[in-house]
Amino acid sequence: MPPPVPMTVPTASIVVLISGQGSNMEALVQAARQGRWEQRFGARVVGVVSNRPDAPGLAWARQQGLQAAALDHRHYPTREAFDADLAHTIDAMDPHGQPAWVLLAGFMRILTPGFVQRYEGRMLNIHPSLLPAFPGLHTHRRAIESGCRFAGATVHRVTAELDHGDILEQAVVPVLPGDTPDTLAARVLTQEHVIYPRAVERLLAAAAAVAVAPPQRNV
Ligand code: GAR
Repeated sequence: MPPPVPMTVPTASIVVLISGQGSNMEALVQAARQGRWEQRFGARVVGVVSNRPDAPGLAWARQQGLQAAALDHRHYPTREAFDADLAHTIDAMDPHGQPAWVLLAGFMRILTPGFVQRYEGRMLNIHPSLLPAFPGLHTHRRAIESGCRFAGATVHRVTAELDHGDILEQAVVPVLPGDTPDTLAARVLTQEHVIYPRAVERLLAAAAAVAVAPPQRNV
């Protein structure tokens, strides 16, 4: 059993961004509970934001007692205006106005450079391919059409360049004869639910270890 986190460690809020089903978000919320992230790392999922008001994941988040907000991107004149409101909504979910982590979980929006810069280093994404192969959309169809024998998913830090940034975790699955984009997507998704929580937990553990490390003595 890991030691409890001392009271001096501030709570690290996590905000998850979704656009649809939200199964990765569910996996993260459940991993946080089962892995006792709050007790072990002082980390808690505080809220979920969707750019689609009808995203099924929003209803699930509300049922869990999480803050859940919808910002319909179609109501904004520019990407910059949407991202400004999105940042405001994300920050307001943390009691101190500054969530420690922003996790993109099936969030299907291209982000402006200013938004990326605001959360740089503390924003992660899961992408349904083995990056750097197949950034962008329709990853499963492209993997099948390219004759790939393996496909997978990648957890990476978000940088200004779409689907680039440090790779934190990957999972590989076979592409089977007769696979359609849907059957392959389903196989990949089961692995996404494993690697995203694992990548986050690893970062939280590293951050908590730094926070409780005793000061270095000069010798
Ligand atoms: C997941 O497969 C995720 O990797 C993908 O959308 C799906 C969302 O599923 N993300 C992207 O394609 C981002 N470019 P979920 O809503 O059930 O988590």
